[in-house]
Amino acid sequence: MLKASLTVDIASVRDRIVGVKQRVPLLNGETRTYVNFDNAASTPALADVLDTVNTFMHWYSSVHRGTGFKSRVATQAYDDAREIVARFVGANQRDHVVIFGKNATEAINKLARRAGLGRDDVVLASLLEHHSNDLPWRGVATVDHVAANALGELDEADFDRKLAQHAGRVKMVAVTGASNVTGFLPPIHRLAEKAHAAGAQILVDGAQLAPHRPISMGALDDPAHLDYVALSAHKMYAPFGSGALIGRRDTFEHGAPDYSGGGTIEIVTTDSVEWSAPPDRDEAGSPNVVGAVALAAAVKALQSIGMAAIADHEAELTAYALERLRTIDSVEIYGDPNPASTRTRLGVIPFNVKGLSHFLVATILSAEFGIGVRNGCFCAHPYLLHLLGLSPEESGDVRQRILADDRRDMPGMVRVSFGMYNTAEEVDVLIDAVQRIARGKVYGRYQQDVASGEYRPADWNPDLGRYFKL
Ligand SMILES: Cc1ncc(COP(=O)(O)O)c(C=O)c1O
Repeated sequence: MLKASLTVDIASVRDRIVGVKQRVPLLNGETRTYVNFDNAASTPALADVLDTVNTFMHWYSSVHRGTGFKSRVATQAYDDAREIVARFVGANQRDHVVIFGKNATEAINKLARRAGLGRDDVVLASLLEHHSNDLPWRGVATVDHVAANALGELDEADFDRKLAQHAGRVKMVAVTGASNVTGFLPPIHRLAEKAHAAGAQILVDGAQLAPHRPISMGALDDPAHLDYVALSAHKMYAPFGSGALIGRRDTFEHGAPDYSGGGTIEIVTTDSVEWSAPPDRDEAGSPNVVGAVALAAAVKALQSIGMAAIADHEAELTAYALERLRTIDSVEIYGDPNPASTRTRLGVIPFNVKGLSHFLVATILSAEFGIGVRNGCFCAHPYLLHLLGLSPEESGDVRQRILADDRRDMPGMVRVSFGMYNTAEEVDVLIDAVQRIARGKVYGRYQQDVASGEYRPADWNPDLGRYFKL
């Protein structure tokens, strides 16, 4: 058994998680307290966030152009949220700008369109990227992907090679702060130093990193600084539809915004437009003030718990989970399976049970054990196919089958991902469940849908409206 963490007061952290005691039905008619191991997709809300939003709603009103007292309060809250988010990532609003949007995907798309790139420019991404930090760049420049080794770690020698190979043409390095599949942490500041020396800038996709590790963008004259960071609030315990792009101000002082309209301009005539200064230029339309306030509240809560304490707790939990998962013979773990190295990666563990579909394992975990995980390719197809060791022919085959709407044998994995509130007892529930599944000790009958590949319990169709209905 893992001893209680010395760093995070886990009971008090759990008290701050909305829905952490929620019981869910099982296939056998019993109920069980839900175990959420799908934090890499979305974290639950913090009570701190919900309370702040509830309080703020009494003051909610239009921001910026309203003269009413509530508008003034709301505007100040929106502006404060920018400062809180800037400090969270070690940015300062003199050199940097915080642009609120709806999620990390939107933030990266915005940067891709605003960075002034052309087809001849090279964006150095990596094989580890979530599609959200790959596809937006493909639309505006030439993308080359830095390779990964068999454990899924970024191949830094290949990074150096590609930087040299495209000398003078690499304008942006677009790299994840942490893999949403293996939890691998690329050496972002070392890559930043190399990128800057080569005349490029660097974007760090912080969607996964931000809820688990401190981020320090640094001053623009520090060679290891980060030029841009993208965040998603729903992965930071604040699911109110917001995200942020924090980036160097000078980039957003020039050019037309990607979206134009109300809020983005100084003056418009029928034949001329003067754009506003950043960040207004890049926040077209009425902003999601509530989402920004929620994100700032989450940041304050994370800081009050302590990012170092969160990192310690999650590293201990991940080590414990790996130690136990490795004892199950038929479990294949991807990424680094070493429990001793969990301080240098996140608590994201992808695995398969040999001989069983990842679709089926994930469904049984939910139906028979009340455990929520994710399965599939986690919006990182090239990385998954690499980790699974598929040949180009096999990958081509997969593509054909998907295009024919048959996903039954779609390659993939089961992913468990931890948050700061997860416990060793919950890991024990998972291990017991995986052991039973591996030994065939399951009682449900499951049917697979050809088009989606998903399994459903054959005789179980719970009325979801009983649990929540509008
Ligand atoms: C590494 C990474 N980047 C980007 C995203 C996209 O985040 P969002 O869907 O909130 O835009 C995700 C979501 O899973 C992610 O894991």
